[in-house]
Amino acid sequence: MVKLSDRLQTIAENIHVGETIADIGTDHGLLPIFLYENAISPFVVLIDINEGPLQKAKKNIEQYTKNSNFDLRLGSGLEPLKSGEVDVVVIAGMGGLLMCEILQKNLQKSKTYNKFVLQPRTAPEKLKKWLLLHGFQVTDEILVREGRFLCEIIVAQLNEDTEKITEKQIKEMEERLELEVNPILFEKQDPLLLSYIENKIRIENGILEEILIGVGQESHERCQQAKQRISLLTEMKKRIGRKL
Ligand SMILES: C[S@@+](CC[C@H](N)C(=O)[O-])C[C@H]1O[C@@H](n2cnc3c(N)ncnc32)[C@H](O)[C@@H]1O
Repeated sequence: MVKLSDRLQTIAENIHVGETIADIGTDHGLLPIFLYENAISPFVVLIDINEGPLQKAKKNIEQYTKNSNFDLRLGSGLEPLKSGEVDVVVIAGMGGLLMCEILQKNLQKSKTYNKFVLQPRTAPEKLKKWLLLHGFQVTDEILVREGRFLCEIIVAQLNEDTEKITEKQIKEMEERLELEVNPILFEKQDPLLLSYIENKIRIENGILEEILIGVGQESHERCQQAKQRISLLTEMKKRIGRKL
């Protein structure tokens, strides 16, 4: 049986029994193999833009399963997938901006899948902004430790029933740092939330120290911004453990 890392295990926990999936940028293919082996997903599609990773996935399929009923497809993003062909699209281990590009490429098609489970390596707040501005809602978020990093796992679904969120609302969310630290994490009292916020404070303190070395107008503005962010993040730290 294939053993998943905590990050991939948490992604797997967000796929429900009976849901079919496509894993975009599958690489080793361990997640779809696990979902199939554990009878969670009756149909899995493995997609990668490069032939090498698909060969790696094929080898893992041969090693872990006796089943050849795996659908491996070469191509970029959602291109090799038909509209509505699976319930859930997983995109993990890529940059958040690349994920936005993949989803934007054919927005109409992106809206035909019931659920997305996304794990951006970078720019998670930009990905969430894109999702909100393009008719999706973030229905859940979970923090996971991977080595010395904390990863965000974002669950998103179409949100066409409710009114579209405005640029103004997004700006307000950005000012409250809500795209960076999702209020859902407080509601669920995510066990890694304190470390997550402290990491962000550490980064801003590092920026302040660097600014002390070189002075200029631009650094003055960034200095003010860092102080403002530290103040908001410190307030958030105090809220942990209390319901919003
Ligand atoms: C770092 S691996 C992530 C593997 C796995 N998803 C995980 O989270 O462990 C990223 C994979 O995405 C693939 N990739 C990069 N851009 C892609 C795209 N536009 N469409 C499909 N796959 C892509 C790469 O070839 C690589 O195999």
